[in-house]
Amino acid sequence: MTIKKAVIPAAGFGTRFLPASKVVPKELLPIVDKPTIQYIAEEAIDTGITQVILVTGREKGSIEDHFDISFELEHHLKSKGKNDLLKMVQDISEMVQIVSVRQKTPLGLGHAILCAKQIVGDHPFAVLLADDIVDADPPCLRQMIDVYNRLGKGIVLAIKEVPRAEVFQYGIIDGEGVEDRLYKVKSLVEKPLVDEAPSNLAVIGRYLLPPEIFEVLEELPPGKGGEIQLTDAIARLGEEIPIYGYRFKGERYDAGDKMGFFIANVRFGLKHPELGPRISEFLIKVAEEIRGKP
Ligand code: G1P
Repeated sequence: MTIKKAVIPAAGFGTRFLPASKVVPKELLPIVDKPTIQYIAEEAIDTGITQVILVTGREKGSIEDHFDISFELEHHLKSKGKNDLLKMVQDISEMVQIVSVRQKTPLGLGHAILCAKQIVGDHPFAVLLADDIVDADPPCLRQMIDVYNRLGKGIVLAIKEVPRAEVFQYGIIDGEGVEDRLYKVKSLVEKPLVDEAPSNLAVIGRYLLPPEIFEVLEELPPGKGGEIQLTDAIARLGEEIPIYGYRFKGERYDAGDKMGFFIANVRFGLKHPELGPRISEFLIKVAEEIRGKP
């Protein structure tokens, strides 16, 4: 049975993005002209996911609104004959079935996933973190589900090599290569100290998980930072079922970090069909100014 449901946690305060995220959820900040969370939803849909479960929090209702119909806006665009924009707006609300659930207290990523338990039910499911934008064809999640379907079991995590000095920002695996791009994970640890990290293979925000993860999360004590950590739940479940790390093909951007967000804007801007050539010209001009050329 393949994976049809995806959970997107979006309940965090987005403190790394203050002041921009004080009122506007960071998931709605645009990369070029699209909110980051729409890139994530599109990846899920392009993979064949049929139900997206958003885990939101207070002050985050505008994320749900973004994927809902917008009666006044659509009426306005229709009356002005702006049919291209009307279609774009309607396409967003027709994308996929979106269900949302609230995480009432911010107790960590593992707890956010646990909030989706009733809606996910008794099926394996995907988790996509909205901070991690992956530009890939086929989509990162599709690549992972292909691996999962071939293996027919277990947990699959997206992984990527990161500079050793950055391991403290990620879940890090201790794994053994079993085939091209695929690692059997022996253990994993959330945000280890640089000296204690078992490798520099980091978990990037894409996970394929079995429903048994919920039972583990329910019993799990707080971990790193006093939060219920998804990494810890996966490590514990790994004592019973195999965990695989898949080194996906594609470019990943950390859109939850100011610099990563800026880089994503430049890269996606350069690929934008209308703006790309102008952005490229502009960047060349800026680079020449920086280098002191006329
Ligand atoms: C989360 C996970 C971490 C993972 C990272 C990927 O951390 O807890 O294991 O490596 O996402 O982006 P966060 O960045 O939310 O602190």
